[in-house]
Amino acid sequence: MTESVILVSGANGEIGHGLIQALATLSGTPPILALDLNELSSTLQPLVKYSVQGDILDARLLARLNEQYRFDSVFHLAAILSSQAERIPEAAHRINVEGTLNLLQLASEQAQRYGRNVPFLFPSSIAVYGIPDLQTKRSLPPLQEDQHNLPGTMYGCNKLYGELLGRFYSHPAVPEPKLDFRVIRFPGIISAQTEPVGGSTDYLPQMLHAAHAGKPYTAFVRADTQLPFITMPDATRALIRLWQAEKSLLQKQVYNINGWNCSAAEFAAKVREHYANAQIDFQADPLRQRIVDSWPTSLDDRVAREEWGWRAEHDLDAAFAAYFLPSLRGASQPTST
Ligand code: SER
Repeated sequence: MTESVILVSGANGEIGHGLIQALATLSGTPPILALDLNELSSTLQPLVKYSVQGDILDARLLARLNEQYRFDSVFHLAAILSSQAERIPEAAHRINVEGTLNLLQLASEQAQRYGRNVPFLFPSSIAVYGIPDLQTKRSLPPLQEDQHNLPGTMYGCNKLYGELLGRFYSHPAVPEPKLDFRVIRFPGIISAQTEPVGGSTDYLPQMLHAAHAGKPYTAFVRADTQLPFITMPDATRALIRLWQAEKSLLQKQVYNINGWNCSAAEFAAKVREHYANAQIDFQADPLRQRIVDSWPTSLDDRVAREEWGWRAEHDLDAAFAAYFLPSLRGASQPTST
């Protein structure tokens, strides 16, 4: 019989690391098939049953996976993040949009083939919001899911369209079995285990990891830059909780979640409380500053709270006390993803 697996694309990325470690602690879940362009990190290898090195744009590879495995669920994490996507917009479009389309199609075929709806979890982002100017950003309350959906970045356009493509494949007019498409719009995520590459929210995790390594750090944004953030354990908890939520509880497909909101200066002050010698300064990069200035200060996650019981465990203080410091001080060097 064809083996049932959980497919995790982009497994080697930051969310991949957090999610696979969290999934591995659950009992009774199918084994993991990790798919990534790069060889899977040695941390993750013992936690997955299958590891496939390959490209989500490779139709032959996907056809082979479709034949060999039965996908219980799909976590489609592979993406080019926002700063990198602005530098290579057409390549980002191919990976973020065509790659997503390929996996949606694959999961839909699987639903048909095995006669069962296939949960498809898609991490979206604060990047789907596009606020016209700083004055407006500063005046806005936490944004609800359907407000200011006019992104100015390639990554934001890609994520918003990915949400719509998933909606298309799981639309009420499409007969079952089909995709059971579920989306979380994440704030910036901070992991104590890995460091991000190519994102526009990278300045906070980079600041933290540099301070821990005793290296000076120049943030690529103004000190007053304000965004919402969340810890990796909260982010993966949210993904797993939404994945496991009873379908009947969910009125929507797309949910904001929020951890805490802070300025880069506030985070730097917090870092200095714990790393007294941290050398942090700020020098705005125009491209990346423009991106973060168009993203909201805060997200309204009321619907996720009401429908599937979402609640972040870490605010800024708890993030340091209960996660960053214990993890960093008990660990070796972070992995670059
Ligand atoms: N953290 C992402 C980025 O900065 C946003 O989703 O691109």
